[in-house]
Amino acid sequence: MSGPRHIPVLIREVVKAIAPRDGGRYVDATFGAGGYTRAFLDKANCRVIAIDRDPDAIAAGQALAVHYAPRLQLIEGRFGDMAELLSAEGVAEVDGVTLDLGVSSMQIDQPERGFSFKSVGPLDMRMEKRGASAADLVNRAAECELADIFWRYGEEHGSRRLAHAIVERRKKKPIETTGELAEIVRRAVGTRSKDESDPATRSFQALRIAVNDELRELERGLAAAEQVLAPGGRLAVVSFHSLEDRTVKEFVRLRSGRTPSPSRHAPPRLRPQPPATLRDLTRRPVVPSAAEIAANPRARSARLRVAEKLAALPVRGSA
Ligand SMILES: C[S@@+](CC[C@H](N)C(=O)[O-])C[C@H]1O[C@@H](n2cnc3c(N)ncnc32)[C@H](O)[C@@H]1O
Repeated sequence: MSGPRHIPVLIREVVKAIAPRDGGRYVDATFGAGGYTRAFLDKANCRVIAIDRDPDAIAAGQALAVHYAPRLQLIEGRFGDMAELLSAEGVAEVDGVTLDLGVSSMQIDQPERGFSFKSVGPLDMRMEKRGASAADLVNRAAECELADIFWRYGEEHGSRRLAHAIVERRKKKPIETTGELAEIVRRAVGTRSKDESDPATRSFQALRIAVNDELRELERGLAAAEQVLAPGGRLAVVSFHSLEDRTVKEFVRLRSGRTPSPSRHAPPRLRPQPPATLRDLTRRPVVPSAAEIAANPRARSARLRVAEKLAALPVRGSA
């Protein structure tokens, strides 16, 4: 493959969590450059079904599929649709699922994909290369919708100022490039201190999350993974910002039966809690070592959470 390569993050920890074994079947639900897939296939005589919503990632992975044939199968699609994608291939259950969230280095480092404010390209950001782009959103959304996106997904304190600046600018001319948007952001919100990262980091992240509907996809992906895992199968999720990590943490907490203890004054629970389906294997997330961060700065905000699927409870009355 030509172009920038993605360095897999927390790879040793993910392989340890998934513990691939001979004859096992695993889903790498965010194939990217295939770092995890390769590690699983090298670790054991297992099979990997790899999913990615980016057609470029699937096209670039074909050489790997040939190399590992017939043990690697590539599917273009969203991990939220994992159960349906697997079922279309006649697969009902798997022994492990990984999600390595966010964008790959191939996506971020190619200016024409429009994910990065560090290089000038079209304001695109679509992982799937179809549907509404970031430019569509920025040029068409209502001011309050834009403010909401920057606040909710970028935790941008100047979200309203920024949304207003965008609306004023687009009255004169549509905003078409990453460079134009980055400039508007810097002027509208500025940096609070010399050491602070470029303010465009937050607003570009926010737009990317909105364009790709990433948080809803994550919720769907977690539920789908829980559904397709066989008892004893592991789910390993690597996230890169607090919105993602919070979603994963909350999902595992609820599914492992750890609901908040009710207040003494609260009315008694009317409905029984659903039985736990997962066991939480990482109450505290696994983080990269200093050596990994030094070698790959993109790993610095990574957090790994792992859960194991529990055996289904026997139906009452059955033997
Ligand atoms: C951080 S990269 C994964 C890198 C991979 N683990 C590796 O080692 O090369 C994330 C990948 O997930 C894909 N992706 C993000 N959201 C997705 C979704 N909802 N469904 C399928 N793929 C998705 C992106 O297109 C990107 O290629």
